[in-house]
Amino acid sequence: SKKIAIAIDGPAAAGKSTVAKIVAEELSYIYIDTGAMYRALTLKALNHHIDLEDETALVELLLHTKIELQKNGKNQIVLLDEQDVTIDVRSQHVTNNVSYVAKLPAIREELVNRQQQLASHRGVVMDGRDIGTRVLPDAEVKIYLIATVEERAKRRYEENKRRGIPSSMEQLIKEIEERDRIDSERDASPLVKAENAIEVDTTAMSINEVAQFILDAASKLI
Ligand code: C5P
Repeated sequence: SKKIAIAIDGPAAAGKSTVAKIVAEELSYIYIDTGAMYRALTLKALNHHIDLEDETALVELLLHTKIELQKNGKNQIVLLDEQDVTIDVRSQHVTNNVSYVAKLPAIREELVNRQQQLASHRGVVMDGRDIGTRVLPDAEVKIYLIATVEERAKRRYEENKRRGIPSSMEQLIKEIEERDRIDSERDASPLVKAENAIEVDTTAMSINEVAQFILDAASKLI
């Protein structure tokens, strides 16, 4: 059957990666979590105490940084310069700083290049903020996942609880709104629905319903 590219974009904590992983698994496609790449660079910059407004220093750092996304069973591991940082890139500290790194045009240019190389063969599910608009503008299926901020914070709260991480709903709502604001207001490929993307409001949908919706959309083309 024909192999296609599926682009999944949307605001923070809308369930993109969970759903993307299921869809990729079902189709035996590769899954590429582009947010993990911005997070890995942010983690390294924080560890090296680099000023997150210093674009030149960050680009220099990125050019000496190897970021690999590997499959490990049903999960995805993130390697930063050969080190497993899968857990570290999800920390609160990285989450609250990543949007400052991701808004820098020269950083985006380099990471978008790497992402396009990773997706140079069809048979790919990629999630992020600018996949349908910038990274894979000719993706056959473009999905824009949304949900109310309360629902997204609730999902993140439950996920944290399962992982034993304490959090407050009020704080989560604030952090999600702030990240969406920075991601949407930046000049370099901001978070926006691609013209030909299908918008799916997942507020009242289960993970499997969302995955099935995307698989149905894809099945018409493969
Ligand atoms: O998807 P995730 O929440 O892991 O993304 C972390 C951050 O990385 C986003 O808030 C955004 O600032 C940035 N990002 C981006 N473009 C992408 C993927 C992520 O700007 N394609």
